[in-house]
Amino acid sequence: MINRAECTIANKAYWNEVASVHQENYVNDLIQRVSQPNFTTFDAVEQRLFEKINLSGMSVAQICCNNARELISVKKAGAGRCVGFDISDEFIKQGEKLKQAAGVEIELVCSDIYNLGDIYNNQFDLLYITIGVLGWLQDLATFFAILNRLLKPGGQILVYEMHPVLWLFEEDSGGTIRNDYFDNKPYFEEHVNDYMNPNVVIKSPSYWFHHPLAEILGDLIAHDFIITHFDEYAHDISNRAAFLSEQENRPPMCYSLVAKKI
Ligand SMILES: C[S@@+](CC[C@H](N)C(=O)[O-])C[C@H]1O[C@@H](n2cnc3c(N)ncnc32)[C@H](O)[C@@H]1O
Repeated sequence: MINRAECTIANKAYWNEVASVHQENYVNDLIQRVSQPNFTTFDAVEQRLFEKINLSGMSVAQICCNNARELISVKKAGAGRCVGFDISDEFIKQGEKLKQAAGVEIELVCSDIYNLGDIYNNQFDLLYITIGVLGWLQDLATFFAILNRLLKPGGQILVYEMHPVLWLFEEDSGGTIRNDYFDNKPYFEEHVNDYMNPNVVIKSPSYWFHHPLAEILGDLIAHDFIITHFDEYAHDISNRAAFLSEQENRPPMCYSLVAKKI
């Protein structure tokens, strides 16, 4: 089995290549959009959850923040200190441009989440994880141990993610089950179409990891989190599986979860 360090090196190169495509295709438009006072990336689910959590003045970290557009939304919604962590230096550079355009104070840190060390321990009220993060992380148990350390006592994690059941299907297979839900081998891909611009092929290889729901919930519970909210939805947040939501019998397509550090 390939080790975590090898996967991380490959995935960093993959995400930097994705960043160069997004730089050409989306960043100028995003710069315009984030500079609008009412800019937000939140959909109705996130809107409701953040209202319930009450972001006001909270110190928030976004794990795997990409170009920080979502963290900018968190800041604009009233959070206090905001820090974004991501392994891609190219996406962090884009985040710096977006943050300037938005005129908000947020900190962006380029780091492998597994290599953060102890300097951010005990600093956050809320950790935000959204759309397409957990699948890049090979070792969820270590990941949740790190999140536990980052949080203050009583701090919370908010996850809004693609549902692991999506792994069963593939874009060209309609509703037919193609993959084994319990298969935990790393999923290797190369020469894939970019998820934002399917006309562009990303040449760098990448490794992705399917985590069944029981693994996600079990690892949270094992790392001293209480699950205070969980819900499942029939809409597609992945940009890859809209065909499933058009079927008569729909699988769950995404979920939201809030967990509190004991
Ligand atoms: C699909 S994006 C999800 C983030 C955001 N919700 C979005 O839609 O842009 C995944 C991000 O995870 C980052 N990432 C992958 N592995 C990582 C790691 N080990 N440590 C930190 N960031 C990582 C990638 O660089 C990428 O920006």
